Amino acid sequence: MSDILVIGVDGMLGRCWSELLESRGVEHRATMLEDLDIRDRAAMNRFITPGTKWVVNCAAYTLVDAAEENEELANEVNGHAVGRMAEQCKEVGSKLLHYSTDYVFDGTARTPYPTDHPREPVNAYGRSKAIAEELIERSGVEHLLVRSSWLYAPWAKNFVLTIRELAKTRPSLRVVDDQRGRPTDSRKLAEVSLTLAEQGSRGVFHVTDGGECSWFELAALIADIVNPECRVEPCTSDEFPLPAPRPAYSVLDISATERVVGPLIPWEARVRDVLGLLEP
Ligand SMILES: NC(=O)c1ccc[n+]([C@@H]2O[C@H](COP(=O)([O-])OP(=O)(O)OC[C@H]3O[C@@H](n4cnc5c(N)ncnc54)[C@H](OP(=O)(O)O)[C@@H]3O)[C@@H](O)[C@H]2O)c1
Repeated sequence: MSDILVIGVDGMLGRCWSELLESRGVEHRATMLEDLDIRDRAAMNRFITPGTKWVVNCAAYTLVDAAEENEELANEVNGHAVGRMAEQCKEVGSKLLHYSTDYVFDGTARTPYPTDHPREPVNAYGRSKAIAEELIERSGVEHLLVRSSWLYAPWAKNFVLTIRELAKTRPSLRVVDDQRGRPTDSRKLAEVSLTLAEQGSRGVFHVTDGGECSWFELAALIADIVNPECRVEPCTSDEFPLPAPRPAYSVLDISATERVVGPLIPWEARVRDVLGLLEP
């Protein structure tokens, strides 16, 4: 990849992309929200110019619950702005690498969702991300659309770091056991996305850690590593009602990705790795 523009480096995944490209000595341009609000078409077109080979879009409205009340804003940022980005990429001959989510599915499946399963989102955030998927496909731009789920990293606000903090001080925690998915180390997500892009993979790919679990199982491992004295107990989603409904089962089928990049490392090992990087 050369002449890369990474949008949204102030976010969790965007920072992974910056660090990855810097570690490999790959020159790139990067924008934060203060440099580029992707809703501003003219500003976007000033960054996506002829000569740009790849646009990597990590910017998004990711407040899943708040999106229920702000669906118009979520649709604009996650949907229509990305549609215009795709059009501009097509116009100047750039390829587009964009991220989407397991929340485009309704969660009623019992086996992992293949990449071509119909989109049936059950919340506003999922609907907004589905708009972008459709617009990218319709634009005709050369693209790599990577769906992922349950992102965490050694930085930013995420479930792994939240549970780590709570487990340090609480004697017990109750965590939902009726939603299953695949956690994803965001650093690995950036790395695998780059490999897919470089190896010529195009269209929709699913990238997560290997294995699957419930939020309870994920929290139990984190507590076990951080403070085994903290007891983690399973509960149901009904006990913690949230504004946005969540799919009960959102395991993404990663087999097509694994055929290109090899087996993805199980989530337990990735979570241990991330926690191992942090100060006690
Ligand atoms: N986090 C997950 O569990 C998860 C799961 C599946 C898929 N994804 C997808 O993965 C991608 C990266 O997610 P992430 O967790 O890294 O998200 P994140 O940490 O929330 O980063 C997104 C960044 O985009 C910025 N942003 C918001 N509105 C913008 C706008 N109009 N123009 C430009 N930038 C804007 C945000 O700024 P502010 O923070 O200031 O708003 C934030 O810095 C997203 O496409 C997301 O939908 C995430």
